[in-house]
Amino acid sequence: TVKPRNTSHFQSVNPSIRKDEAKVVDIVNIEDLGDSTAFCRCWRSAKFPYCDGSHGRHNRENCDNTGPVVIKK
Ligand code: FES
Repeated sequence: TVKPRNTSHFQSVNPSIRKDEAKVVDIVNIEDLGDSTAFCRCWRSAKFPYCDGSHGRHNRENCDNTGPVVIKK
């Protein structure tokens, strides 16, 4: 028999993005990127996986320091 795991101590990183998917995976073709593209790492962007600046509000409200990763050609 499989024992149910106690998940009460788990914290979710992803609060709301595509929760119907078992795993959120994005594949981006490097040929489609502009000279500079910012990817979200705070999991709050409405344009995920791209950064829309929502990390600023998240950081102010939660004393956090997240920000995007920027890919430059
Ligand atoms: Fe998430 Fe900018 S919106 S890192």
